Amino acid sequence: MASGSSNRVLRPLLLGILVLGVFVTLFVMYFKPYTSWLSVPVESVSEHVKNLISTKSDKNPTIVLIWLWPFGSKFDLSVCSSLFEVDNCLLTADRNLYNKSHGVIIHHRDIRGDLSNLPQLPRPFFQKWIWMNFESPTHSAKLPGIEKLFNLTLSYHLDSNILAPYGAMLPAEGEENFVPPSKNKLVCWIVSNWNPGHVRVKYFNELQKHVKVHAYGRAFGKHISDNDFMPTITSCKFYLSFENSVHKDYITEKLFNPLSVGTVPVVLGPTRQDYEKIVQGDAFIHVDDFSSPKDLADYLLLLDKNEEMYLRYFEWRRHFKVKQFLFTAEHACMACDYLRKHKEYKAFNDLDTWFWGS
Ligand SMILES: *[C@@H]1O[C@H](CO)[C@@H](O)[C@H](O)[C@H]1NC(C)=O
Ligand SMILES: *[C@@H]1O[C@H](CO)[C@@H](O)[C@H](O)[C@H]1NC(C)=O
Repeated sequence: MASGSSNRVLRPLLLGILVLGVFVTLFVMYFKPYTSWLSVPVESVSEHVKNLISTKSDKNPTIVLIWLWPFGSKFDLSVCSSLFEVDNCLLTADRNLYNKSHGVIIHHRDIRGDLSNLPQLPRPFFQKWIWMNFESPTHSAKLPGIEKLFNLTLSYHLDSNILAPYGAMLPAEGEENFVPPSKNKLVCWIVSNWNPGHVRVKYFNELQKHVKVHAYGRAFGKHISDNDFMPTITSCKFYLSFENSVHKDYITEKLFNPLSVGTVPVVLGPTRQDYEKIVQGDAFIHVDDFSSPKDLADYLLLLDKNEEMYLRYFEWRRHFKVKQFLFTAEHACMACDYLRKHKEYKAFNDLDTWFWGS
């Protein structure tokens, strides 16, 4: 009985020691370099590990070179991953990386007429030049020599390779019962570029004969500071979202600013159909919905008296929210994302017809 129970304890113990012994022997045999590894300075070991990790996550990042800062103003180049969930992209303005860049973004407005400030080195076979433009054809100079120069387009045009709109409507997560902020003006307009030849100025001149428009900007001797800009739009029931020129898909922050703060935009620009491709049809009033500026004025005055009708212009907020894009960083990140997903050859040979129509 006694020897039986001691056996029961001893046998597993001996077996355990045996297994452990074999394990230690094997370990020492196979892990001889272990000792020499230990003698490596600790610092360089952690450095080594760090490099391993970083080469793993940055494995062949897509490099996008900002050749010219748009309008000469710099922006933060390190935001693709942190703000826009675009990973593995390296935005740079360092021209020494030209030969390694998968994409080169060239902002149209900053190109010199003689093209002398474009890259002069040969284009690596994998590299794509991206034509970036946010202005309308009326306000973009048609430059000789760029028609067949680029591989990709980045603009507000809905058929751009990389669509870079001024804003968008996105589905909202929860239902929100939106109450517009308090208003002390009926119709407002802030205009920075006053040109009597503009369609919008002609329309405004007629409209203001029938309804008071609080107009701001140099043309009216009423400058609005950056700080007062959005609060002014917010304080009005309606805002004249009049584009400086009328072109297909050319819909700018003039629409998205009032939408985002709870003011109803009255739009003048491309067709209602064009607008409805990017925002809900009941979120704005289109001048084309009326036979004359007077008709529009009458309607705005009617809405001023009828809260229920006015509030219908905020129904869309139950299901949608406005997104505005961060210029120009977000668009550059989108370009990088596009390049990562589209490695195929691409040449664009008719920029002039595509953008200027001839
Ligand atoms: C880029 O490549 C070209 C040859 O295609 C070479 O002449 C030039 O020195 C290279 N530039 C840099 C910065 O490496
Ligand atoms: C980019 O466009 C140029 C000019 O059309 C063309 O020569 C080049 O092969 C294109 N590159 C790529 C990567 O598609």
